[in-house]
Amino acid sequence: MNTMQSTSFNDPNTETLIETAQAQPANSVADFHDFLRDIAKHPQIHAKFLNTLSFMEYMGSRKILKSQRAESITFELLSHTAEEIRHAQTFKKIALKMSDGKVSSYSAEHLFCGVEAATYFQTLDQTAAQRLGAPDSWANYLLTTLLIEERANQIYPFYEEILAAAGYPGYLKLIVREENSHLQDIAAEITGNTPLSPTLLDELRKIEGTAFAKFTASLKSELRAFNA
Ligand SMILES: [Fe+2]
Ligand SMILES: [Fe+2]
Repeated sequence: MNTMQSTSFNDPNTETLIETAQAQPANSVADFHDFLRDIAKHPQIHAKFLNTLSFMEYMGSRKILKSQRAESITFELLSHTAEEIRHAQTFKKIALKMSDGKVSSYSAEHLFCGVEAATYFQTLDQTAAQRLGAPDSWANYLLTTLLIEERANQIYPFYEEILAAAGYPGYLKLIVREENSHLQDIAAEITGNTPLSPTLLDELRKIEGTAFAKFTASLKSELRAFNA
């Protein structure tokens, strides 16, 4: 049942689910933060990286729509999709300002590690589908969205500070608030209407952690190549 309305955000099980996620190893997060600090020194490629985040937000919104049949699309799903599209738009807006309008498309030359970003997304999607066994688009949506929202909540608040220091204050404020609210909604749904096995969640978090570490390593290596 995909309504996401009837479970309380303050449910203790929801809190536990989110706390478990926050207790994950922080190494790759620190690595990613280092990368953000470094790329912010180079507006020309920083704009492409912002465009990559826009691309990822766009992929997220597309995945929500593609994962559900029309008869399952609720008001909440439309809102979530609309918000992800707006996030894509916000990152694109900063990217365009920073590049004087140059990074206008999602073609390879306008992205920073675009292929690796798509691989990160596909890894989550495909692994969730495999581990769930029987096709279950709603459970797949919940699983992959939970993982992505957990990651967004580790990254975006820090990135907001970096962007403010780079001359773009306030742009990510609404995104940070909405990603947090998405995480609460999804966690509430998983601990309420659609329980998913904690073992499966842990397994998927490890796989996401590895995929994210790989993505971060690619970003750092691309940045080193630019600096060389
Ligand atoms: Fe988003
Ligand atoms: Fe989100």
